[in-house]
Amino acid sequence: MYSSISLGYSSLEPFVSNRTLEEHYKIYLKYLKKLNELLSTTSNIYSKAYLVQHIDVLPLSIRGEVLYNLSGVINHELYFFGLSNDKSGNMDRNNKLISDIIANFGSIENFREEFTKQALNVKGSGYTFLVMDDNKKFRILNTSNQDNPYYYGYVPIMALDVWEHAYYLDYYSNRLDYINKFFEYVDYKKLSINYENILKS
Ligand SMILES: [Fe+2]
Repeated sequence: MYSSISLGYSSLEPFVSNRTLEEHYKIYLKYLKKLNELLSTTSNIYSKAYLVQHIDVLPLSIRGEVLYNLSGVINHELYFFGLSNDKSGNMDRNNKLISDIIANFGSIENFREEFTKQALNVKGSGYTFLVMDDNKKFRILNTSNQDNPYYYGYVPIMALDVWEHAYYLDYYSNRLDYINKFFEYVDYKKLSINYENILKS
């Protein structure tokens, strides 16, 4: 049984309104509820990241639905986790994630530009991720629906939800405005702690 993360509803305005965040959180909880229902007859001893990479530990009959809902949970948790309105020290070059982004893309600005280009290119519903490959190199990856970077052998480091439910109420079809505002709310400090733990594991 996986538990839900919590969100402070007013904490992301004006990037996303409380109404969007509430609706978005409900969508996340639906994935979580369905996932827990599907796993209720199995002894759940796996981390979410482990399970998504070793789905064959489950009966074939439920693998597809588990994968979809599990990825819906993982993707949303990473997206929500990476956002805050705390900007203090966020662009600190001693931050491991920031220094590695600069090492990989040349500058934060280049990274942002490349990420934005990719995010504008997501067709239909999906995500844009900053991911790490086997050689610990960064890439930017788009996925469709709730597909997850683990499916393709990459570790997700940062996520942007570009399903319409993530921005339509606040930005209508102006995805570029949503992406630009997103970067004001990315919490590199929190994401770097996650990233450093991934590097150690
Ligand atoms: Fe979403």
